[in-house]
Amino acid sequence: MAFPTETVYGLGADASNQEAIKGIFRIKGRPETHPLIVHIADLSALNDWAINIPAVAYRLAERFWPGPLTLILNKAPNVPCEVTGGQETVGVRMPNHPVAMELIEAFGGGVAAPSANLFGRLSPTRAEHVQDQLGGLVDMVIDGGPCGVGLESTIVNLTSDTPQVLRPGGVSLSALSDTLKQDISLGNGADYPRVSGSLERHYSPLTPLKLRNFSELSEIISVEKNNRQNNGFLIHSEGLIKKATEKNLAFRSISTNYDMYSKSLYDLLHSLDKMSLDSIFIEKPPANSEWIAVADRLKRASRKTTQT
Ligand code: TXA
Ligand code: MG
Repeated sequence: MAFPTETVYGLGADASNQEAIKGIFRIKGRPETHPLIVHIADLSALNDWAINIPAVAYRLAERFWPGPLTLILNKAPNVPCEVTGGQETVGVRMPNHPVAMELIEAFGGGVAAPSANLFGRLSPTRAEHVQDQLGGLVDMVIDGGPCGVGLESTIVNLTSDTPQVLRPGGVSLSALSDTLKQDISLGNGADYPRVSGSLERHYSPLTPLKLRNFSELSEIISVEKNNRQNNGFLIHSEGLIKKATEKNLAFRSISTNYDMYSKSLYDLLHSLDKMSLDSIFIEKPPANSEWIAVADRLKRASRKTTQT
């Protein structure tokens, strides 16, 4: 069953039921070694899934749960190995969405849920996106409208000496550092081959995605339509939007406000991806550290080949 969370839609199953978990991997076409996040609705449920929980986990949970933060902890013995991809650790998160919370509470256990997309593809931020990719494969999609955050949760590993971010996401690095009262580093994805979000190519539309800066895009837009190409554009600079409008090109404009940008990014990419374009050109977002989660997704989505 697919359900909304504040980050992206999830494909949920009983986290204690091995057969149900296997169904998730089958539907997504995801390698079985890639672990799933267990979603809980109450802090007291954390003990059902993790052991040797450090004090820092509670500090982060109190500050950011419910919310877009996943904690990697040592797994409790009862956690099925299908959930953890055979690892000794488990990812746990409490989502900040009334439908997700009600669902988990009504179910009464942990809900294992990856993003409700096919492996390697764009995550869904609307029920229609789930329907497009997984319709016919899932028994139910609960429509909770568009996701408020629009990017996946930030994943923090608390099983090594110092907390490390494995995937930047809905909670910013600066908010984490403030709470931990220490700088927090972005882990090297290569250290964690089993974090599927750390694969080089991931979160991709089917249409080739190309990241370009303002002046490169200005050139490309100038020659577009003379070059027998049918390209689409995701742009934020006024000058480019004006040009693309004059030339009647296939484009979407995106806000430069960070929260609005991340909320609409996947949605706009899904809509361009449906237009049978040769390529989608996307204007590079600002390079500052606040944009690290967006930059991470765009980098992965624009890689040419999947590296596993
Ligand atoms: O925002 C989100 O986190 C969404 C919503 C549905 O909660 N879920 C999501 O799940 O993005 P998924 O499976 O698409 O991505 C979860 C990431 C994967 O890269 C997975 O490998 C990593 O979390 N992960 C899960 N458990 C882990 C563990 N024990 N150690 C390291 N990485 C883990
Ligand atoms: Mg995913």
